[in-house]
Parts: sequence; C-alpha cells; structure tokens
Amino acid sequence: MTPSSHPPLSADAPIGVFDSGIGGLSVLRALRAELPGERFVYLADSGYAPYGERGEAYTIERARAVTDELRKRHRIKALVIACNTATTAAIDLLRIDHSDLPLVGVEPAVKPALSSSRTGRVGVIGTRGTLASARFARLLDAWSESGSVVAQACDGLASAIEDEIALPGPASTAATTALCVRYIGAMGDFGASAGQIDTLVLGCTHYVFAAPAIRQALGDADVRLIETGDPVARQTRRLLALRGLLGDAGGAAVLLQSTGDPALLEAAAKHWLGLVNSHP
Ligand code: DGL
Repeated sequence: MTPSSHPPLSADAPIGVFDSGIGGLSVLRALRAELPGERFVYLADSGYAPYGERGEAYTIERARAVTDELRKRHRIKALVIACNTATTAAIDLLRIDHSDLPLVGVEPAVKPALSSSRTGRVGVIGTRGTLASARFARLLDAWSESGSVVAQACDGLASAIEDEIALPGPASTAATTALCVRYIGAMGDFGASAGQIDTLVLGCTHYVFAAPAIRQALGDADVRLIETGDPVARQTRRLLALRGLLGDAGGAAVLLQSTGDPALLEAAAKHWLGLVNSHP
C-alpha cells in the first residue's frame, strides 16, 4: 500500500508495537509507563518466529506484512518496531513505504554502553541477524574509536525464552540458563578491571526477560546490563508530540494479537507486565 492510500493519522488511534514474539513486551512495558494516556496494539508474529536465524529477506517480508496488517486493521498512528532484528533489517525500507507514519525502532545500545563504560570494553548479545546486519556494522564503525565491542550471536536464546512461558518449569529455565552460560562464557572476561567487559548490551528485546539467567552466567562479575525500552519510549513520545498526535485515552488499554498462539502472548503479558488483554 502506498502512503497516500492510508487515511490521515488520528490522535485517537492506537500505537502499533510489534516483535517476532513476546520479547517486545519489554519495550511495551516502557511505552506504557511513558505514555499512560495511549492505547496500544501489540502484535507478536509468533507464527513466523524466530526472525533472527532466518536471514534478512525473510525478516523484511515479515516486517512489511505486519506493518500493513497493523495499518489496515487498526489504523495505527505510529509504529514501534520492538525487535532489533526487524529494525536492523527493515526500518529504512519501512520508512520509504510508510513515509507518513511516525516510526521508531530498537537497535543495540552501543553508544550509551561505550559512553558509560569505564574499561572501554563492552559486550553486545543479539540475534545472528542483528549482528550480521549492515546497520549494526555501521553502528560499530561510528563508535569504533570510543572503545572495543565484543559481539556474540545467541542462536536459540529467544526461542528458549518463549519456551519458558509455553512450558514453565525447571527444565525450560535450565535450558535458558545453559544457553546464557555458553554464550557469555564465549565472550571473554567480564568485570571492572582493565581489559574486562564491564557493560553488556541486551541487543534483543527477548533477552531483557532472561536478565536473571544472564546475571547467573556472569557470576559475581561487576557488569552493567543495558536495555533500550526507556529511550525508545521517550523517542515515541517526542515524535507523537511533534506531529500533534499525543492521545489521552486514559487507562493505556492494550490489545494483544498474535499470528501464533494467542494464549502464549497473553500468559507472557500477564506474567511479566501484569497485563490483561483488552480484547476488541
Ligand atoms: N526480539 C527479537 C529482537 O529483538 C528477536 C527474536 C527473534 O529471533 O525472532 O531481535
């Protein structure tokens, strides 16, 4: 659909938020805190997840399909891509296809990590897709003089986090922890001394919910974890204000939709955000 074929944006409309699955709920949590007067539609593309290990063309196709769906069905007034993999693969193309729509994405917080690191050595964990993207390469390039970055792709970790909600219990928790131990262990030394990684960027929105397992894998090393929900929420507010699109629905209702199992999304939203689906 071309931008001109969409009706004008309305302040009463909801904000669309999407991820390949339940990870973007970590961004939704920050959005609801920053924008309590807004309505949200959260779309988990779980029927087509994970994105991170399927290549760029696949992610672009899904990001386009989901954006079209959110615009057509819900007439959203802004879109938050609550997925690093989809942002790094598709945000530039979505900005061309939807030039009338305020768009906010998430990408690994390399700059804030390097600015606050004392050792000048930071880690980034993310999906294979995010870390292989041209956008991430540009990000590393832009900040290469501020310090060094150790990037680690964590195949299977986002799916393991989803499994913890689908099949809660000691076995699924142990699977997530084992992956964190393996990947964190492969990155080298963590801590506050010279040469050690003192800051770890959670470059996938799912990983925010694995913070306890990541902490366990880090042991007693003094490491700061960085996520991106708050800056994304502030940027969303700024863009809406600029366009005169801030709403005041009062109550921040959230409609949860999934291309996979809606029960899984509802369970995750309840478990992590204490959130109940508002249903249409
Ligand atoms: N939550 C997504 C991200 O931030 C990735 C999960 C996936 O591989 O689909 O990158």
